[in-house]
Amino acid sequence: MPSHAMDPGVDPAHPTAAESVTITVDGVAQGGIDGQTIAGILLAAGRGAWRRTSGAERPRGVFCGIGVCFDCIATVNGVRDVRLCQRRAADGDVVETQHDALPVRVDTARTGGGDA
Ligand code: FES
Repeated sequence: MPSHAMDPGVDPAHPTAAESVTITVDGVAQGGIDGQTIAGILLAAGRGAWRRTSGAERPRGVFCGIGVCFDCIATVNGVRDVRLCQRRAADGDVVETQHDALPVRVDTARTGGGDA
């Protein structure tokens, strides 16, 4: 049973009543509770991945969960590369998943470019 669905009366931590928050993720409303990270809301909703790697298109979500790996990044309220495992959800947050193509590599030996 996910912790957000546990009856507070039987929870051994004896939590107080939780306030709810609603965020949108790629235009879809998603509910959570005050104090959850955005990644926590997504995980509680059963979503394990929300971006793909640039090279191999592999799914990524939470890996470290402590703000080190940057696997969980997304755009929040227009700010890119936000680590969702570190960002506490606020009511009304707008989250957009990110996918960045690999940068185009320019062969400077062929083009004659270089340090200028
Ligand atoms: S999961 Fe590693 S920084 Fe968020």
